[in-house]
Amino acid sequence: MKTYPELDNYLKRVALKSPEFLVKVERKAAHDDFPIIGPLCGQYLFQLARMIEARRIFELGSGFGYSACWFSLARGKEAEIHLTDRDPENKKKALQLFSAGRLKSEFVYHLGDALGELNKARGKFDIILNDLDKIKYPDVIEPAWKKLRKGGVLVTDNVLWSGKVYSGVNDSPTRAIRKFTKMIYSHPGFRSTIIPIRDGLMVSLRV
Ligand SMILES: C[S@@+](CC[C@H](N)C(=O)[O-])C[C@H]1O[C@@H](n2cnc3c(N)ncnc32)[C@H](O)[C@@H]1O
Repeated sequence: MKTYPELDNYLKRVALKSPEFLVKVERKAAHDDFPIIGPLCGQYLFQLARMIEARRIFELGSGFGYSACWFSLARGKEAEIHLTDRDPENKKKALQLFSAGRLKSEFVYHLGDALGELNKARGKFDIILNDLDKIKYPDVIEPAWKKLRKGGVLVTDNVLWSGKVYSGVNDSPTRAIRKFTKMIYSHPGFRSTIIPIRDGLMVSLRV
């Protein structure tokens, strides 16, 4: 999904290209219509992970590991990356992808409900990526606040939802994203900004 397709195309033309093993995955995801975070957000995840020297990263909704690859490219052996998904096929594909990219991070793939796995996880995280079913978004805020260290960051994909959030659409995913957005902007434990790349990426600093 792209909220501003022309802007997205321009930014993709000027931005640094993805490594070859990820370009192949990007093509396949486009062909299969699988919603990966894409190269512009991927580059941002890379930067963020380097900027805050992230060591422990938790993904809510990992699919076949594309977004996790960007974290791993940024932090290599320094990173412990927790992935979650309910589909065992995605886990298999992710492990193949990490090996194709010769990635060196420690990967822990949890199969099951993503929020349940986050609640069970030990210790604090530097980054949590929120990319699960949109109707669950409002339920992410409190667990994420508890599991992030102070100065850690919650990154949430699809907060512009192809523009539906400001176009009067009222289906349940759109309502949930609007509710999430309102809740997190008014939460005293987060300071947030929406970056309007691809489908809207919200970056929320845990204060
Ligand atoms: C948008 S895709 C993730 C893409 C991935 N972050 C990337 O950019 O490469 C969302 C994935 O989350 C999984 N998912 C959604 N809600 C979930 C939940 N509540 N628990 C576990 N997995 C979930 C879906 O099976 C799907 O594979």
